[in-house]
Amino acid sequence: MSSSTGGRSAATIRVAAPAKINLLLHVGERRPDGFHELQSLIGFTEAGDQLEISSSAELSLAVRGPFASALPSSDDNLVLKAARALRQQSRRTDGAAIVLTKNLPVASGIGGGSADAGAALRGLDRLWDLNLSQQQLLKLAAELGSDVPVCLLSRPCWVEGRGEALSELPPLPRMPVVLVNPGVAVSTSAVFGLLNARSGTARSRPAKPLESLWDVIGYLGDAGNDLEAPACELAPAIQEVLNAFDREPGCALAAMSGSGATCFALFHDPDFAEGAASRIAQDHRSWWVSLTRFAGPAIGDPNEE
Ligand code: C5P
Repeated sequence: MSSSTGGRSAATIRVAAPAKINLLLHVGERRPDGFHELQSLIGFTEAGDQLEISSSAELSLAVRGPFASALPSSDDNLVLKAARALRQQSRRTDGAAIVLTKNLPVASGIGGGSADAGAALRGLDRLWDLNLSQQQLLKLAAELGSDVPVCLLSRPCWVEGRGEALSELPPLPRMPVVLVNPGVAVSTSAVFGLLNARSGTARSRPAKPLESLWDVIGYLGDAGNDLEAPACELAPAIQEVLNAFDREPGCALAAMSGSGATCFALFHDPDFAEGAASRIAQDHRSWWVSLTRFAGPAIGDPNEE
C-alpha cells in the first residue's frame, strides 16, 4: 500500500518473511574462520513472519504476534542490524518504523531471524528507493548470518559454502507441509559443537526441476540432515516429533530443518497433512504446529506487497 501526502511520499510496505526448510543439509570441513562448509537444498513455505515497514524519521522496531515475547532485546534484533547495515552501506540517515509480526518460533531452524533480516533488506531497499543490486544486498546479508542470503531471495536454492554460495532452483511443487516445533530453542553453535558424523560436500544439486513429491524423494534418497543427530542429543524432544510424524499415515518424508528444533513432514495428500497436523496438535498441546505448503514464486519477488 502506498499513499502520497502533500508532495511527500508516505509509504507502508508489507514484506513476507517465509519459513525456510532445509530438505537436505550436509556438513563438510570446518574452515579456518570456524564455520563449516555446507551443502543444502532449501525451500520456503507460505507460513512465515510478516514485516510492515513505514516511512519515519527514526529507525524503530515493534514486535507483535504469537512469538513476540520470545525475542531477545530489540536492539539485538537482526531486523535492526539489517536496517543499520543497509543505511551505512547507502550512506543514508532515513528512518523506518518496522512492525514485525512474529509467527514463527524463535531459534528454531526455519529461518526466523534470518528470514526477518532478509525481508527487512528487501523492504527497506524499496522504501528508501536505494535500488541496490542483488549482489550488494547478498553481500550485506552474508555479513548478518549464514542463512540471511538465502532468506533474502526466499526462493528455492541449492546452497554451498558457509551458506552464501547460492544457486537458484525452479519452484518446488506446492505440496502440503506440516511444521512442528516442540517448544525448545536450540543454539546453532551448540549443535555444531556436538557434530560427529559429517556427510561431506560431494553431492550435486538437482539436475532436473523437482516437480512432484516423488521427484523430491527420489533426489534426496537417503540424504538427510547431519545436524539432526547432535540436535536430538541436545534436545530429545526433537526425536519425539520425528516419531510422531512416523506414526502419521500419508507422511512421505519427515526430517529436522536447519539446526532444529523444528521438524517438517511432506505429504502428497492435503487431507492426510491436515489430519496429521490436527492429531499432533491435539496430542501435544505445548508444541507449535503449522499446516502450510511450499510457497509459490511470488514470495521474495521484488514487487511483493
Ligand atoms: O552464521 P550464523 O550466525 O547463523 O551461525 C551460527 C553458528 O552456527 C556459528 O557461530 C557456527 O558455530 C555455526 N555455523 C557453522 N557453519 C556454518 C554456519 C553456522 O559452523 N556454515
